[in-house]
Amino acid sequence: MAAKLIDGKAFATKIKADITAEISARKNQGFAAPCLAVILVGDNPASHIYVRNKRQACEEAGIKSIYHSLPNTIPENDLKELIHQLNNDPTVNGILLQLPLPEHINSDALLELIDPAKDVDGFHPYNLGRLAQRRPALQPCTPYGIMMLLDHIKETYKNRHAVIVGASNIVGRPMALELLLAGSTITICHRFTKDLSYFVKQADILVAAVGIPSLIKGDWIKPGATVIDVGINRLIDGSIMGDVEFTAAKEKAAWITPVPGGVGPMTTATLLKNTLTATINQDSETRDIP
Ligand code: GUN
Repeated sequence: MAAKLIDGKAFATKIKADITAEISARKNQGFAAPCLAVILVGDNPASHIYVRNKRQACEEAGIKSIYHSLPNTIPENDLKELIHQLNNDPTVNGILLQLPLPEHINSDALLELIDPAKDVDGFHPYNLGRLAQRRPALQPCTPYGIMMLLDHIKETYKNRHAVIVGASNIVGRPMALELLLAGSTITICHRFTKDLSYFVKQADILVAAVGIPSLIKGDWIKPGATVIDVGINRLIDGSIMGDVEFTAAKEKAAWITPVPGGVGPMTTATLLKNTLTATINQDSETRDIP
């Protein structure tokens, strides 16, 4: 039986509409619009497209975005100074440092400089640590968006074996923490995993986040599995393909995300959600000061 499609595009549209309505209601109560500072370094074409889409989504939702587009050659100290300024600016609620950064810059050190309360990507060790300790604060956007999709299809999590392929800081690792928190049994596969198919065949929930087109073969999918494909791989002909062999996998899975139109739109929706959450938290802290 063919799997049902998990329509991330439609679900993200609904979430964005809810966020837009909440921001509008807050403005009517006298609150300022949330403000997201976006930092883009260099001229990576994919990063430019992602940042343009994120800023446009902010604008549509009523979130102010301020943009720092900086040259590839910028010294690391100048970026540190900018992050300090944004941390100390009470009108800025969220800070997004688009990755990857040029090689001469230590991305981890810069991400750690961002005020955790403004860390709308959820990449700061504080926020990842909170997730690891089952006390999530600001959650990394892509895994958070995937959890919303799984909740939406009424995934049960418990007694389910979740296999995550890919162990990046952006997706694989926080994804494992989210699914663990939800009660699933977790396996993480990565570049040193021997016999990937052995693990994938056991997955009740499969999350593929490696960036290798069609790495996961359709006949590895366990019948009735939920398949989440995070891969956005652009082929030479310009088309986009996921990490999973979609057509064959669809015949075995119960649920599957398309690429494009599955996980991608959710990442932007959760960025807006985190920006609103950070803003609400900061506004309530300000009000509490005697
Ligand atoms: N590069 C690829 N994905 C992301 C993301 O979710 N956030 C940031 N900041 N950079 C990225």
